[in-house]
Amino acid sequence: MSETRKKTKSKAVKKARVSRKPSVPFESKDFLSLREVQPADLEMLFKLADKMKKAPEAFYGKLKGKSMTMLFQKPSTRTRVSFQVGMSQLGGSVVYMDPQEAPLGERESIKDVARTLSRYCDAVVVRTYSHADVEEFARYATVPVINGLSDLYHPCQTLADLFTIRERFKTLEKMNIAYIGDGNNVLNSLLCGVSRTGANRAIATPRGYEPSEEILKDLKLVAKDSGSKITLSNNPFTAIKNAHAIYTDVWVSMGQEKQRDQRIRDFQPFQVNGAIIGKAPKDAVFMHCLPAHRGEEITDEVIENPRSVIFDQAENRMHTQKALLYLLLTRKRKQK
Ligand code: CP
Ligand code: NVA
Repeated sequence: MSETRKKTKSKAVKKARVSRKPSVPFESKDFLSLREVQPADLEMLFKLADKMKKAPEAFYGKLKGKSMTMLFQKPSTRTRVSFQVGMSQLGGSVVYMDPQEAPLGERESIKDVARTLSRYCDAVVVRTYSHADVEEFARYATVPVINGLSDLYHPCQTLADLFTIRERFKTLEKMNIAYIGDGNNVLNSLLCGVSRTGANRAIATPRGYEPSEEILKDLKLVAKDSGSKITLSNNPFTAIKNAHAIYTDVWVSMGQEKQRDQRIRDFQPFQVNGAIIGKAPKDAVFMHCLPAHRGEEITDEVIENPRSVIFDQAENRMHTQKALLYLLLTRKRKQK
């Protein structure tokens, strides 16, 4: 990792320190990472998402008159469509701006875009490269800003992932989640989520691709309260021992294309494949946030396995994000 990237990461991590104050539901204006979120907020969101999934018609029109902009600097299928359809089911409207129309910080400054969009919309979803950009956007926006994926975090994905595990096993407490692969945005967010729910996490990454030390240190603080355990190794077979869920993500994330050849070489022993299915506990489910690079980090056999919950995860993006939008746009925040 370059020194500049390390510095940006470390600044963002410091700013987002976990609040250990008593819980006020979704007290933070924005949803940039799960670090601002209290365990009780997560449980509230999951219960609401469950109701929304079971009886979507009961929530039709609940956000009538509300509008949201989605400002995306990277491609997206799930995040874009699940937010757009979800918001329209709630009666709100969405404007999508792609990187050509709105290159963040190029046509005009981030702070000017943030302040302008805040005059039109009730929320903004930002998908960006540097996490510092989404933080800057949120600092100047007067409406809630949702991180739709940055280089550091993908918190909306984690909402769906934890909801999927909870749906399958009826609890998150003491669930063992094994993550095999890159210490990236998806893993960072999953770690934040897991440490707030009492689930355990075993991670296997190649050396040099571990999640950031600083994130791990901070999470240990939260995990102490929830009783959740996090173990690191460089061996996928060690990580999947006693796993209830086995998770992987791409080896080359958006923006890392130049490192592709090196990464493909380094990650070869970390493929989630038939050998992993063979050694996995018999009731373990297989997870991936998608898009998958079939034949790289995961094989067809795993994606198509009857115990794959990958498309449930994709579906649950919409239910959990609808709950998130509802909570963020209808809550009564304390005046600072
Ligand atoms: N999982 C996910 O965020 O998918 P998209 O990149 O297609 O939005
Ligand atoms: N780690 C991946 C996740 C895509 C949803 C990326 O950032 O490209």
